Amino acid sequence: MRAIVMNGTGGREMMEHVERPDPVVGPGQALVEIAFAGVNFMDIGVRQGMAWTEMPNPKILGVEGAGRVLAVGDGVEGIAPGQRVAWVYAPGSYAERIAIAAESLVPVPDAIDDRTAASVMMQGLTASHFATDFYPVQSGDIAFVHAAAGGVGLLLTQIIKLRGGHVIGRVSSEEKVAVAKEAGADHVIVDTEGRFAEEALRLAHGEGVHVVYDGSGPTTFRGSLDVLRRSGTFCWYGPVLGGPGPIDIMSLPKSIKLGYAGFRDHIHTPELFRARSAQLFDWIAKGKLKVRIGGEYLLAEAAKAHADMESRKTTGKLLLVP
Ligand SMILES: NC(=O)c1ccc[n+]([C@@H]2O[C@H](COP(=O)([O-])OP(=O)(O)OC[C@H]3O[C@@H](n4cnc5c(N)ncnc54)[C@H](OP(=O)(O)O)[C@@H]3O)[C@@H](O)[C@H]2O)c1
Repeated sequence: MRAIVMNGTGGREMMEHVERPDPVVGPGQALVEIAFAGVNFMDIGVRQGMAWTEMPNPKILGVEGAGRVLAVGDGVEGIAPGQRVAWVYAPGSYAERIAIAAESLVPVPDAIDDRTAASVMMQGLTASHFATDFYPVQSGDIAFVHAAAGGVGLLLTQIIKLRGGHVIGRVSSEEKVAVAKEAGADHVIVDTEGRFAEEALRLAHGEGVHVVYDGSGPTTFRGSLDVLRRSGTFCWYGPVLGGPGPIDIMSLPKSIKLGYAGFRDHIHTPELFRARSAQLFDWIAKGKLKVRIGGEYLLAEAAKAHADMESRKTTGKLLLVP
């Protein structure tokens, strides 16, 4: 089969489109023909050596996708050949086929196409976790969403609006403003320098926002603290773009809540994983949640997808077509 491997830690030159032996399905696993693989910022982090360093190189990149089950191994129940499935956090997804633990798969309902399913596993579950577990948005809350036209940002904005919240988004260019507004953002600030707090405070009637969602690196951290209201919540989530460095807890605004969010700490069992995925699919089927595909690339063009994502020009979800 064809696959995209990383030959070592580093830039996009480490990525190579190669021929690999087909995976062999083991006990408890399913062999899946991949229809679409999701591109995530996390994949750039893996390539740069920030995660999954314990797996030797060359290794197949990618952690997310959707496709059809070809075969199942011994002991697999509830997943059968021919079934359409989706997954996330499964290394080896930039490929034509993958052997994957059956309990890591969610069945995809008929109303959801493969393209959509592959688009919402990482970014949709992340957005859902942020707005419902990490900080359960209440009707009337004001939320500040960084990278509001990105994959997580567009879904997060819509879920906040579904819960009755208001959204102030931040994007890096004028071209992204309409995209964030189409997802429901009430206001959108254009900024790349970390100078958004003053305008955000004005938009939040001088009181600050109830929650800020920030995965945008060190540049935004100070401003994100400044836009919080008394007892506000800071949902930090961007390991790839980097953190603020060591924090002196006594220098933080008093009484805020600050944490590093990752959905797998809350959505940590196969049952929860399936239930929360099913909720996303249900929202999509009912037209409450829209998925924006920002780009589709052939598998061989995976390095271009990474380049485009790193260039800050993309919006929505990027997909690879094996
Ligand atoms: N903690 C978790 O569980 C979790 C899960 C999923 C994703 N994430 C994180 O969420 C963030 C978004 O991920 P995604 O996959 O949905 O990607 P994405 O939003 O589609 O793309 C990343 C966004 O980051 C901004 N960006 C890109 N390059 C940048 C740079 N060099 N400096 C500053 N900002 C840059 C861009 O927005 P602007 O140009 O508009 O600023 C872009 O929309 C990433 O930081 C990712 O690591 C975390």
